[in-house]
Amino acid sequence: MQITSTLSDTRAALRNRGRIVFVPTMGNLHDGHVSLMRQAREHGDTVVASIFVNRLQFGPNEDFDKYPRTFAADCAKLEAVGVAHLFAPTEADLYPEPQQYLVEPPEIQNLLEGRFRPGHFRGVATVVLKLFNVVQPHVAVFGKKDYQQLMILRAMTRQLALPIDIVGGETVRAGDGLALSSRNGYLTPEERAEAPRLNRVLTRIRDAVRGGDRDFARLEREALAELDRHGWKTDYVAVRRQADLREPSPDGGEALVALAASRLGQPRLIDNVEI
Ligand code: PAJ
Repeated sequence: MQITSTLSDTRAALRNRGRIVFVPTMGNLHDGHVSLMRQAREHGDTVVASIFVNRLQFGPNEDFDKYPRTFAADCAKLEAVGVAHLFAPTEADLYPEPQQYLVEPPEIQNLLEGRFRPGHFRGVATVVLKLFNVVQPHVAVFGKKDYQQLMILRAMTRQLALPIDIVGGETVRAGDGLALSSRNGYLTPEERAEAPRLNRVLTRIRDAVRGGDRDFARLEREALAELDRHGWKTDYVAVRRQADLREPSPDGGEALVALAASRLGQPRLIDNVEI
């Protein structure tokens, strides 16, 4: 696997490499990331990953400084899954001057995650556009684990007419249902045992809705109460339309998704289940 950090080296290395499939990450790679790399292989000739912990998308009280950085282990995993090229810029490479031109996503950036992480999606959209401009991929793969992120990046790509196909990858989970996440490493053993409840309350909502229950407010309240009882501090549990993450209309017929974000001790976990 070839590794570059500067923009010019990366562009030079990726010239004439056929159809480029790109999987951006912040490192500390787990099987969820690896599964995106594996899917990427099916969409083109050269799989390119990136590792960059993007300061712009972290709030002032978030975990930027202590975000796990495990570069050597990450490289071994990328190598093993057949990634051809890793773009691993430093902050000086990607932000040599203060980033004053920013991608401002529309109103959807203020829903759900955005209500609790102001500016987060502006930081994500800005860095992803910048990464796209360096790697110039034909296809880019993002996980459904970050459902709202995937939607925002899909819409950005479409509205800015970027010649890139966006592919969504299914969420990879531990055997007990917990969605794999770099932040799971912050959980104590007791919290780790409790953590699968987040996915359980969401699948229960899915099953209830599939069974014809459309009292979404009650379903959300019940899930919230269960998390409360077990020591979670919940930001939201919400049933929304897959198309735009707005509230479902009363007449139904739309594809829905149940999403949640909640804190268990220190770490904040997110998950979602399509209905
Ligand atoms: P990061 O959290 O490292 O995630 C990189 C990619 O892996 C994202 O597309 C994310 O949705 C996906 N992913 C994470 N956990 C997953 C799981 N359990 N199953 C499947 N896919 C999973 O998301 C980011 O980085 C950043 O915001 C980034 C897009 C790189 C911009 O900085």
